[in-house]
Amino acid sequence: DWTSDVFIDASVAELKEKIGSDKVVMGLSGGVDSSVAATLIHRAIGDQLTCVFVDNGLLRKNEFEEVLHSYKDMGLNVIGVDAKQRFYDALAGISDPEAKRKAIGRAFIEVFDDEAHKIDGVKWLGQGTIYPDVIESVSVKGPSATIKSHHNVGGLPDFMKLSVVEPLNTLFKDEVREVGRALEIPEAIVGRHPFPGPGLAIRILGDITPEKVATLQEVDHIFIQGLKNHGLYDQVWQAGAILLPIQSVGVMGDERTYERVVALRAVGSVDGMTADWIHLPYEFLGKMSNEIINKVKGVNRVVYDISSKPPATIEWE
Ligand code: XMP
Repeated sequence: DWTSDVFIDASVAELKEKIGSDKVVMGLSGGVDSSVAATLIHRAIGDQLTCVFVDNGLLRKNEFEEVLHSYKDMGLNVIGVDAKQRFYDALAGISDPEAKRKAIGRAFIEVFDDEAHKIDGVKWLGQGTIYPDVIESVSVKGPSATIKSHHNVGGLPDFMKLSVVEPLNTLFKDEVREVGRALEIPEAIVGRHPFPGPGLAIRILGDITPEKVATLQEVDHIFIQGLKNHGLYDQVWQAGAILLPIQSVGVMGDERTYERVVALRAVGSVDGMTADWIHLPYEFLGKMSNEIINKVKGVNRVVYDISSKPPATIEWE
C-alpha cells in the first residue's frame, strides 16, 4: 500500500545514494510539484542543493515575494532572480501562443543557465516532473503536431550536460500533495492550484505588455481571493482570469466607456487531461463581477467561461 511516509523514506534514501556528495541545481516555480521535489532533495542532501526562483514578470500578484519568503522559511537554499524585464523584452510584439511559449522557454533557460553557471561543479538538475507530465509530453507531442509545448518537460539545453533527477515522476498530483503535507510544506503552497509555466502570458490574448500584466494580476487577485474568502478555492482544481483582446461599450455615470473584457474560468479536474467547468454560485459570480469592474481600471465587462475540456482546453492559449 502506498503511503506518503513510506514514499518519503524510500525516496530520500534513493536520492542520497544516487546523488552522493554531488551538487544539484533546481528551478522552483512556486507550485506544488517543484516545491515538494526540492524539499525531498533538500532532505536527502541539504545545502548541496541550490534552488533558483525566477521572477518572469508573469506570476500572480505578490506571488514572487510571498513564495520566496516561504522557501527561505522552509530552509531551502534559494536564489531569487528578478528577470521581469528580460521576459517582457523577449515577449515584446509576440501574439502567437506557441511563439510566446517558446520565447518564455528560451528566456527561462538563459536566466537559469546564468545562475547555474555560478555554482561550482554542479552535476544534477532537479525537476518537479510528475507522472501526468510524463504521459502528456508523450501523448501530446505526436509526430505530426504539438498541441501545446510544455516547457517544463524536456526543457534542458544540451550544453548544460546535467543529469536529471525527478523524484516525483511516478506520482499523481493528489499524492504529491500528500507527500508535501507529510513534509510540512505550508498549506499555501501544497494546496495551491496548478499554474502554467508561461504564467499570465497565456492568459493575456494577444501581445504582452507590463500594463496588461498588471491589469490581469488585479483581476486574478480579486477572483482568487474571492474564492478563498467564500470557501470555494479548495473545491476548484484550477481557476484564473483571462484578459481578452477586445473592448466593449459600457456606461459609467453619464459617460460612455469603451474598455476591456475579462473572462473568469474555474474547472474541476483530476490531472488536467480532462476538465469540467465549475458551477460557481451566481451570487458569487455577481460579486466578483462588481468588485472587478469597480476596482480594476480599464475593465468594464466580466464573462464566465462555461466550456469543458475537451473540446476546450483549460487555458485559452
Ligand atoms: P490545457 O490548457 O492544455 O492545460 O488544458 C492543462 C494543464 O496544463 C497547464 N498548462 C501548462 N503548464 N506549461 C505548463 O507548465 C505550459 O505551457 C502549459 N500549458 C497549459 C494548464 O494550466 C493546466 O493546468
